[in-house]
This record gives sequence, C-alpha cells and structure tokens, in this order.
Amino acid sequence: MRIGVLTGGGDCPGLNAVIRAVVRKGVGVYGYEFVGFRDGWKGPLEGMTQELGIAEVRGILPRGGTILGSSRTNPFKIDGGVDRIRENLHSLGVDALVAIGGEDTLGVATKLHELGVNVVGVPKTIDNDLNATDYTFGFDTAVNIAMEAIDRLHTTAESHHRALIVEVMGRHAGWIALHAGLAGGANVILIPEQRFSIERVCAYVESRFESHYAPIIVIAEGAMPLEGEMSTLDKGVDAFGHARLGGIGDWLASEIEHRTGKEARTTVLGHIQRGGTPTAFDRVLATRFGLHAIDAVNAGDFGKMVALRSTDIVTVPLADATTVLKTVPPEFYSEAEVFFG
Ligand code: F6P
Repeated sequence: MRIGVLTGGGDCPGLNAVIRAVVRKGVGVYGYEFVGFRDGWKGPLEGMTQELGIAEVRGILPRGGTILGSSRTNPFKIDGGVDRIRENLHSLGVDALVAIGGEDTLGVATKLHELGVNVVGVPKTIDNDLNATDYTFGFDTAVNIAMEAIDRLHTTAESHHRALIVEVMGRHAGWIALHAGLAGGANVILIPEQRFSIERVCAYVESRFESHYAPIIVIAEGAMPLEGEMSTLDKGVDAFGHARLGGIGDWLASEIEHRTGKEARTTVLGHIQRGGTPTAFDRVLATRFGLHAIDAVNAGDFGKMVALRSTDIVTVPLADATTVLKTVPPEFYSEAEVFFG
C-alpha cells in the first residue's frame, strides 16, 4: 500500500510528531510506502510531493511547524479541483490519505471520502475548538506560551502600576484565553462566547488598583463588548478618535485609559503561540494520534478521525469533527469569575 500524508490549515506544534508516528509504524509494522504532499490540499491538487520515509522523519519529534508545509487551499472552491486530486492520487498510486488538519482540512477530507477517496483524519488546532475530541495537540503548547507571557507581565505591570492586557488567539472559542488566564492568575478573562461589559471590566481594573495590585486581563482575539458599548469599535477609532490599528486588545487598552485614567498596555501574542517545540503533553498526544491513524488505515476504517476520549484514542466519523464548533461551556467560564477583580 502507498499512503499519502498532508498537513493543512494553520500550523501547530505537534504536526511533525504525528507525521513521524504515522511513518514509523506504517513502515516498521505494516510495510507501507509513503508519499508526502506539500502544503495541505495544494499538494494532491498540483501533484506537489516530497519523499517521506524513515530518514525524512528522523529528528523531527521536537520540531515545531510541519516538514510538509501547509496552506488553506480548499479544492472544493477551485474549478475542477476535486477531479484533479483524484487523477493525481491515481497516477501517483496512492491508496489512502492521512489528512492532518483543523475544521477546513477535515471538512475537505469528509467530502472527499463521500466521493470515494480513502481518508483518515487527524484533528489539529491550537484553538482546541474541534468537536468530537477532548483535546487537540498544539493547544497545551499555546497555553503554556501564553501562561509564561502572563507570568512575565505580572512583574512589569506591578512596577509601573499599569493595567496589562494580553491578547491571545481564538476567533470563535476562548479555550486558550481561559486556560492561560487561569494558569497565569489573570484578574479578568474575556472570551468570544460571552460578550463583556466594558463598564464591568473597568470596575474590576479599579478595584484591583485600589487593593494596590496591577490588573492583568487576558482577552481572546474574538471577544466582543456588549452591543451598546461597541460604538468606537465600529468606527475603527480609539476612545480619543485616533485610528485603531490593532485588534480588540488595543481597543480595550484605550477604553480602560479613557474610562479609569490609569495607564494600560496591550501585548498581542499572535503567531508566537503557534511556533516552536511542542510540550510533552502535545508530543505524546500527537504521537498517539499518529499511531492510531495508521492503525485505522490498516483496518480500512476510512472516513474516520482519531480522537481523544478521556485517556483513550478512538475513531469517530470525520463529519462529527466539523459539524459543530466546541466552545467553552458557560459553567466553566463562571468558575473562573471568582478570580475577577
Ligand atoms: O486556527 C488557528 C489560528 O491560529 C487561530 O487561532 C487564528 O485566529 C488563526 O489561526 C490565524 O490564522 P493565520 O495564521 O492565517 O493568520
């Protein structure tokens, strides 16, 4: 059997650990041959391949990023894209694909499987918002990076009596914000799932300063204020009428300064959260996902995705991963509110 492997969507620490496990077990236990596809679905679409064997996966376990490259190419949005993929898989003699990716990549995998392509999916995202798996690899690494940033910001906030805001990734789900905020002892955590009141945030900021401590606020990039508090945000200007160049974190800092008279600064962590070496947790999860994905190929269990359920790796229908986004439950968010202010 000849197996194709690709990584799609935003990169994520642990991708190389999956590739290594798939290839090591695939070659060593099942005697498969592999072909690496470059840059997500662009690889099979354009016939862009690279060698993938034991030698190519040596030493990649601790490396961030992906040795296969990635892209957000979606063949279903390209005229004749799906037919080109089928032709290329046929001419390259690829019997099955292991697709490692998030919602978009696995959405493509689901549709291709419905059209007869043999695919097994591996869920990936630092956002941890994929349904059907308890955790995705990359999330723990992102949370640890954000936690370390928060730890460092506590000391500089105290020294300058400033409110410091940390903007983390998460457009639709606040998992990184909530976990990093709890782990880093943030005084306010703001997530996309729940609109926040800027008045309430400022009251927390003031009460924190009154008790002689500087507040740390963690905000997810997708968090939004209440409808009635959005006027300056809508206009793309800050509280002083200046053009707002940054994201929601910058808006929050200018609102806090304007409303409380206290200095505020924002640190946007951005892609730092996705780079570098994976934590031990992510290396183990990614490795176990890879081992079970190649088992699923061997069992002919196509149209499935590997998933973590409690401490077990199981296979679930690919479609389950992409139908509903996994967001933070309100009761979990409420637990954190005891630390606000
Ligand atoms: O889905 C992963 C993610 O890192 C999000 O948290 C973030 O909003 C987005 O990707 C950033 O995408 P890009 O790298 O294309 O700017």
